[in-house]
Amino acid sequence: MILDGRTIAQEIYADISARISQLWDKPKLGAILLGNSSESLRYIGQKRKFAQKIWMDFELSHFPENIGEEELLSHIQQLNQDKSISGYIVQLPLPDHIDSQKIIRAIDPKKDVDGFHPENQGKVLIWDASGFLPCTPAGVMKIFEHYNISLAGKRICILGQSNIAGKPMAQLCINAGATVTSCNSLTPDISVYTQHSDIIISATGVPHLITPEKLWKKTILIDIGFSVKNGEIFGDIDTLWALSAGHDVTPVPGWVGPMTVAMLLSNTLTAHEKRS
Ligand code: GUN
Repeated sequence: MILDGRTIAQEIYADISARISQLWDKPKLGAILLGNSSESLRYIGQKRKFAQKIWMDFELSHFPENIGEEELLSHIQQLNQDKSISGYIVQLPLPDHIDSQKIIRAIDPKKDVDGFHPENQGKVLIWDASGFLPCTPAGVMKIFEHYNISLAGKRICILGQSNIAGKPMAQLCINAGATVTSCNSLTPDISVYTQHSDIIISATGVPHLITPEKLWKKTILIDIGFSVKNGEIFGDIDTLWALSAGHDVTPVPGWVGPMTVAMLLSNTLTAHEKRS
């Protein structure tokens, strides 16, 4: 079965639109983009498109790739102070001459709708619901919720340990009572863990990493991987094979991605509703 993030995202948008229609002022999502990487432009385009569909304002601050760190930090301070901006994101990755962690720490945690600031990441760790959840892991949790997939007592294998996907994903699964294995590119043989898992969440960007011998039973496969080879988009899982083998799967492209954007806009509305 396909786990259909697209339909769930539509339900989230319907809820957000209804809440926005009750407001006298519209929320506004800000975005900072450096340079013109086609992938970042595509992500930003999606965020703008869906924000506009639900009557949320969107403001892009687009800088050349060689902007200095100080100038970027000073723009971040402006966005922190700007009362018309409900929340904002800094599109990653940033160029090498910029210290990404320094930039993320400069974002006001109350406007950090990506959920990347250490304060928000820490709240995931201690299970404090007052923070913003990182959007992709939050979207995956919504998919589980929608399909009544309880994580309590499940064996979950997470592939990839990034701060924005794999690590918070592992923590959310732990919070939900799962037994979690977190693998990285140094794990000697991921099959040892994947074969016994009830659920695999893969966020590596290695095309079709999950092959038939890595699965011994019917498994729920959540694919957060994204890679482009010779102009073709790949997930970490070959969807057609996975479906024909009877697994439940989120295909790439297009099934988890919409949930990430929906959760970002949901966080932005929450930031707007809580603004001081
Ligand atoms: N780059 C890849 N994914 C993301 C995301 O979810 N947020 C931001 N800010 N940058 C990204």
